[in-house]
Amino acid sequence: MRVSYNLFEEVYRCLMETALDEKVQQLQMLQQHWTEGAFNFEPTKTLHKVPDAGRPDKPDLVPPKELPRRRLGSKEGHAALMHSILHIEFNAVNLALDAVYRFQDMPREFYRDWLGVAGEEAYHFQMVREHLYHLGYEYGDFPAHNGLWVTTYETDHDPLVRMALVPRTLEARGLDVTPSMIQKLRAVGDKRGVEILKILLNDEIGHVEVGTRWFRYLCHQRNLNPFDTFTDIVKNYFHGDLKGPFNFEARQDAGFSDEEIDWLKSLETAS
Ligand SMILES: [Fe+2]
Ligand SMILES: [Fe+2]
Repeated sequence: MRVSYNLFEEVYRCLMETALDEKVQQLQMLQQHWTEGAFNFEPTKTLHKVPDAGRPDKPDLVPPKELPRRRLGSKEGHAALMHSILHIEFNAVNLALDAVYRFQDMPREFYRDWLGVAGEEAYHFQMVREHLYHLGYEYGDFPAHNGLWVTTYETDHDPLVRMALVPRTLEARGLDVTPSMIQKLRAVGDKRGVEILKILLNDEIGHVEVGTRWFRYLCHQRNLNPFDTFTDIVKNYFHGDLKGPFNFEARQDAGFSDEEIDWLKSLETAS
């Protein structure tokens, strides 16, 4: 008889795992079980709130204002920038896992997609971690902020709101800001850093696209207008202003509609 694992329980265990290497290993196991078709999709009896997902003691989490300034001119500033990217990738693993665990009545393809995203985030994490190591630092050597997880936690009541705000707003910001980071790294001669960020940018388009696809799926299911729904959610829930400059080309590739692009353009002009 084939052993069957419960997808949601296993994903929850990985989400709450605090040790870095252990977490990556568990994730590989999840993917292997997925490929083997070894999961059952029985909803769990309790659905845990996760105000704080599994993460190591370090980095210390501080408000964004208290983060060190990242001037690329110094070795430390350069490393601080890589560290902030590394922290985002770490959180991105957790937020992809949380999407799987939390929304237990979605089609199987939803879990396939988000487990796939989690795998890519872990790959990004490992790549950036190694690069940071070459710069002489490790994950946890700088403080970091918790914005990504806070929004994930605040959107745990509804996959529609989650898709709108986490992949389509926060991860999409990555598409906007990465090109200028690539330029900065190029200016300081960090070839490997440039190479890594290009991979990240390309993969992130795919993650935002996954968010777009499931956002539209849920809108369709609930008979909602995707444009009105998206803009309402951003206006009502998003902390701070959505400000340009936006990477319209990447956002288009990630499934943003012409109407959404025009709306973003109007925000850009307004700011
Ligand atoms: Fe990533
Ligand atoms: Fe991502």
